[in-house]
Amino acid sequence: MRATLHSIRWLSDDVRELVLKPDDDFYFRPGQYVGIGRSSGAHRCYSLACAPAADNSLALHVRHWPGGEFSDRVLSRARIGDEFDITGPLGTFAFPSGDGPVVMLATGTGVAPFLAMLAAFLPANRHRRITLYWGAREQKDFYATDVLDAWEATHAGFQFVPVLSGSQAGYVQHAAARALSEPAHTHVLACGNPRMIQDAYGIFVSEAANPVATFTSDAFEAACDAAHIAAEPCAPDSAQPDSVRLSLDGRFVAARVGESILSALKTAGLPVMSVCGGKASCGTCLVELEAGWIQRAAPCSRTERDLLACLPEAGPSSRLGCQIRITPELDGLAMRLPSIHHTKKESFV
Ligand SMILES: Cc1cc2nc3c(=O)[nH]c(=O)nc-3n(C[C@H](O)[C@H](O)[C@H](O)COP(=O)(O)OP(=O)(O)OC[C@H]3O[C@@H](n4cnc5c(N)ncnc54)[C@H](O)[C@@H]3O)c2cc1C
Ligand code: FES
Repeated sequence: MRATLHSIRWLSDDVRELVLKPDDDFYFRPGQYVGIGRSSGAHRCYSLACAPAADNSLALHVRHWPGGEFSDRVLSRARIGDEFDITGPLGTFAFPSGDGPVVMLATGTGVAPFLAMLAAFLPANRHRRITLYWGAREQKDFYATDVLDAWEATHAGFQFVPVLSGSQAGYVQHAAARALSEPAHTHVLACGNPRMIQDAYGIFVSEAANPVATFTSDAFEAACDAAHIAAEPCAPDSAQPDSVRLSLDGRFVAARVGESILSALKTAGLPVMSVCGGKASCGTCLVELEAGWIQRAAPCSRTERDLLACLPEAGPSSRLGCQIRITPELDGLAMRLPSIHHTKKESFV
């Protein structure tokens, strides 16, 4: 979908807020994210930082990475009225139902989906125990304290705990673990730095004597380009060919054994998106395998199966291009690009 940049402003020294107005109605669940980019450039993922609004506007909080393709190069030139392509909504990160305590762990702009969830669900969960632990390096990095303090003052069950990293409190996951009182009923949500999420998973689930009721997370992984999406090449085997030919909509594409279908299509300059960089979380690298090939490709992992089940455009022959590794047996594999890629495909054809 196309979206117009309605406003852009700095929320702190290194976080910008973008407000976009999509051309059409855009439905999402607080906690989800979108892919965004200029039609010809890199696409990146950003969590929606607002609740669904009557005027259909979408807010994103983008941390500035010096030299970063989107957060620096694209945004430093962005002007009100510019058009972006957005993909989504994506992801399954969501506010837990029920009345058990909720612990939110955020680092940096990982607070964005929690701001969306709190704006949408606090009014109906006024007395539910919800604690947001937000970690940052310096006090000035807590850029949304006005709204969080206001929610704390008006919602008896809500508490906001800022955690300065390197302080005595340790990191957000440590501060939250110390205060945890009824793990069996508590839902933990974690968003932001992948290392924080991994550590929190250990503390609250895999190494916990009393694991929490549920643990869900969204890791802000850095995007990978096509070169990184390629798998480690398989060990050379002189009896096996090291490349195969794929057929896409009747055209031939060379692919190296060991790389992913997505990598082969990108290397060939074909118009597949890959908003999450090959992490099986966005669904934008969808391909349709032609009859007979679905049985010959390696079966879906559980993650891929779960994501395909959520994608309205996926059918029985759909697969994620980033999840299929090329093997010699896939020589001749025939596939199509589904309509989600068609705006870009037209320019290619
Ligand atoms: C599901 C999901 C949701 C996301 N939501 C948000 C969000 O709400 N707000 C937000 O600011 N970002 C979010 N991100 C990260 C975002 O998608 C980009 O990766 C990030 O903005 C950098 O993009 P870029 O094009 O500016 O930099 P790139 O050109 O991709 O990277 C440039 C350099 O910056 C550094 N870099 C970039 N990202 C990271 C990182 N995460 N960790 C360490 N180094 C890094 C690396 O050195 C990298 O080489 C999310 C990522 C995912 C997967
Ligand atoms: S690139 Fe995101 S699921 Fe394949």
